Amino acid sequence: MADPPPTLRNRKTAISEPQQPESPDSKKEDHIPQKTPQTGFLAILFLILGVLGLLGVAGAAAAYIYYQNPGEYFWIVPPPPWEAVPGDTEWVVDFSADVLKRDAVVAAFKHAWSAYERDAMGDDEYHPITRKGSNLTAAGGIGYTVIDSLDTMLLMGLDAEYARARAWVADSLTFDRDANFNTFETTIRVLGGLLAAHELTDGDDLYLERAVALADRMLPVFDTPTGLPLSMVNLAKRVGVADADNHGLVSTAEATTLQLEFRYLGYLTDNLEYWDKAERVMKVVRQARLPNGLTPIFMSPEHGKFMTSEIRLGSRGDSYYEYLLKQYLQTGSVETVYREMYEDSMNAIHENLIAVSNTRKLTFTKELHPQRLDYTGQNTWVRALKQDHLVCFLGGSLMLGATTAGALTPPSVPPTSAELTPAGRRDWTTGIRLIETCVDTYRTASGLAPEIVHFRENIEKGSDWFIKGARPPGEPPVYDARYILRPETVESLFLAWRLTGNPRYRQYGWEIFEAIEKHCRVPGGGYASVLNVEQVPVVWEDKMETFLMSETLKYLFLLFTDDSVLPLHEYVFNTEAHALPIFSPSVRTGFS
Ligand SMILES: *[C@@H]1O[C@H](CO)[C@@H](O)[C@H](O)[C@H]1NC(C)=O
Repeated sequence: MADPPPTLRNRKTAISEPQQPESPDSKKEDHIPQKTPQTGFLAILFLILGVLGLLGVAGAAAAYIYYQNPGEYFWIVPPPPWEAVPGDTEWVVDFSADVLKRDAVVAAFKHAWSAYERDAMGDDEYHPITRKGSNLTAAGGIGYTVIDSLDTMLLMGLDAEYARARAWVADSLTFDRDANFNTFETTIRVLGGLLAAHELTDGDDLYLERAVALADRMLPVFDTPTGLPLSMVNLAKRVGVADADNHGLVSTAEATTLQLEFRYLGYLTDNLEYWDKAERVMKVVRQARLPNGLTPIFMSPEHGKFMTSEIRLGSRGDSYYEYLLKQYLQTGSVETVYREMYEDSMNAIHENLIAVSNTRKLTFTKELHPQRLDYTGQNTWVRALKQDHLVCFLGGSLMLGATTAGALTPPSVPPTSAELTPAGRRDWTTGIRLIETCVDTYRTASGLAPEIVHFRENIEKGSDWFIKGARPPGEPPVYDARYILRPETVESLFLAWRLTGNPRYRQYGWEIFEAIEKHCRVPGGGYASVLNVEQVPVVWEDKMETFLMSETLKYLFLLFTDDSVLPLHEYVFNTEAHALPIFSPSVRTGFS
């Protein structure tokens, strides 16, 4: 079994993660201490032996080390106490719109869209500095940006812009493109965007017809020995294509983030093929469960097993967890198999991946990396105190899970402790804390968060988190230092706002929006990525990711609009923020 190569493509970008020079600061990995009950006993034993002088200086020294550095030897995350938000007491829940802020977000969307429409209408992607569009492949565009933006326009009431976008879909969109497209990205952005547009137009047939046309071209990706989908698809030839960059493996998140879309399409069309192919993937994943419940980021489509690979909540892992919960919610909380898988995963995450920083006790998630350490060829796990911005979806997701899968009764806003199960209480608290950490990573020179941060744990000296290998302003910035208009933190803020009514979350969202306006807005139109969040004035990268219009600005809009828009008990958002309705399927659901 070959290990996947160290260089991984990042979710939602085609950019390879470049190798970074190591800074002296960067040696963050060490062995996971064994959690054994004997260690506490040993500490006492050493202490007694040391005091009695039987082991002399050695015993006393060992006791002293245990006493001074308990965190180095006892890897225990104490169950967090119940809390609303750290530092908060009470607030008045008022879900009416903040009209000025909401309209400022709508104006930002128009600034982004009008530049794209002026310079690149119909192209897959947009470059606001050079004012050019580009396509994912030389074979021509597949409506990446237009379709990703449709439901945001519908929600914002941008009728004229929407009418022109719809006309483009009706007249110019084709999927007859002879090139390889990423299965996951095409599903979440294009299929998800079409289905959400269908929903928010009360069933405009144009979108369902295009969704069926796309899905039928994609179905062959599932034709593997296990049913796990291949990473790419040639849309013209209608064949799945293995990912040569990763030895033909499939990433866990990519295989398990097609289900909301294919299941809903199956429901709308009564064509169960879509449903069954997506569901079968989940069966394979469940059968591949590791004893500790953790989920590595690569699987083999040949035998359906997890491959020795990193375990993390960032790229290639993230939306697996998100979709476990949302599959449960999508069909009205009747498919208990997904709740079980979700709870199992959240338990494993709390036991293995949640950590707390050195000084300010910020809650974060770490990663586990396999390393072949000894001559037997056995793998050992080392931990990396590294968190992608992508992980910032998790805070809101945990809170959503706590008030649904983790609730004993339909909970209040905010929920009371008594309304939640013990796991729900734990997840709620972790969710709140993770959001505070993600917001903290926006406290940079620009007010924007870096793509990747590293944390310090336990007795290490220095700030709680840092950008690995960061160089002084003026020097070429490291990859980790960029902000590419990512949505995950504002997504969590939106969920936390709807679930608590705490105005703190609107305030955080507004600060992030203001930083985007100040540093990413290109005066001539559009928004650009920032290469180093710690350098002001900023240096731009000539790219406006499509998720700015589909996710970041949509979640900010939803944060400031009133709560009658897309209520959480009626909708689930796919991982590209496309709103899909919760429904009761007419067919049998779940599996065992
Ligand atoms: C993208 O593809 C479309 C459709 O083939 C084409 O009209 C357009 O010129 C392409 N854009 C670029 C920048 O190549």
